[in-house]
Amino acid sequence: MHPETRHLRTVLITGASSGIGKALALAYAAPGLCLILIGRNAERLADTAQQAMRQGADVVVGAIDVRDRAAMSAWIAEHDKAHPIDLVIANAGITTGLAPGDLTEDPEAVRAILATNLIGVLNTIEPLIAPMTARGHGQIACVGSIAGLHGLHYAPAYCMTKSAVHAYMESIRGRLEKRGVLVSLIIPGFVKTPLNDSIDTFKPFELSDAKAAALIRRGLTRGKAVVAFPLPLYLLARFGRLLPSRFYDKIMTGVSAHVPQTQERI
Ligand SMILES: NC(=O)c1ccc[n+]([C@@H]2O[C@H](COP(=O)([O-])OP(=O)(O)OC[C@H]3O[C@@H](n4cnc5c(N)ncnc54)[C@H](OP(=O)(O)O)[C@@H]3O)[C@@H](O)[C@H]2O)c1
Repeated sequence: MHPETRHLRTVLITGASSGIGKALALAYAAPGLCLILIGRNAERLADTAQQAMRQGADVVVGAIDVRDRAAMSAWIAEHDKAHPIDLVIANAGITTGLAPGDLTEDPEAVRAILATNLIGVLNTIEPLIAPMTARGHGQIACVGSIAGLHGLHYAPAYCMTKSAVHAYMESIRGRLEKRGVLVSLIIPGFVKTPLNDSIDTFKPFELSDAKAAALIRRGLTRGKAVVAFPLPLYLLARFGRLLPSRFYDKIMTGVSAHVPQTQERI
């Protein structure tokens, strides 16, 4: 067993059928660990599960849509009873945005991304708050984005969902940590995944999914409130907030980008 995973017995990860979620599952998979993996695509989820089992983990998969509050709540409660969850990572997410020349996003696409990236996060975290605080133990983590630190002209709704989850995680941290439950916000920059590949823009300091997963696991193991990477891009985004807003807009609207509209619908 990896020394950092010694104290973990059960980890729940959403969006484990692809990209960062899959890489996280494989970063944690080890003998003695139970992984509870959620995604919609049963075939890709089974592939993650098989690889994790080959690394010695016990794996439970749930082909569940994170937008389905009732299904998420029932399934998570059932599995938390059988295997009390030590760490939950609300990672599942989608992206949507604008092509050069577009002015507004399709309202249906905007509602769809809110349902996944925001309501889906709530549906993942809420069922675990009461059991974890009752045990006085656990860690709640959520994948935000550097795009949540400042709006980007090519992805308004995506930025909105990510800044909202940042605010949510910051807001629940103080009270839950007094009850023994750690709260960690993950803020990645560009990570090479199918989601990221769909975006056509300049991607400074892009990382592999495996490297991102290793950084996330290290940060979560250290109990960090914020796990942000790569550092130069994170600092640049934080610095951007200090600039006068219209000066910032002038620089950023010069960045060419095309983010396809999501085909997801509520
Ligand atoms: N890649 C980046 O550069 C980057 C940067 C910052 C933040 N992030 C965030 O990192 C997270 C993971 O993204 P990724 O890049 O790894 O994307 P990805 O490769 O497209 O994976 C997204 C995962 O989310 C799952 N998912 C999407 N909608 C779902 C739903 N309604 N119910 C259940 N699962 C759902 C997908 O599962 P199915 O396909 O099985 O539905 C898939 O496993 C997202 O929250 C994203 O915003 C990514």
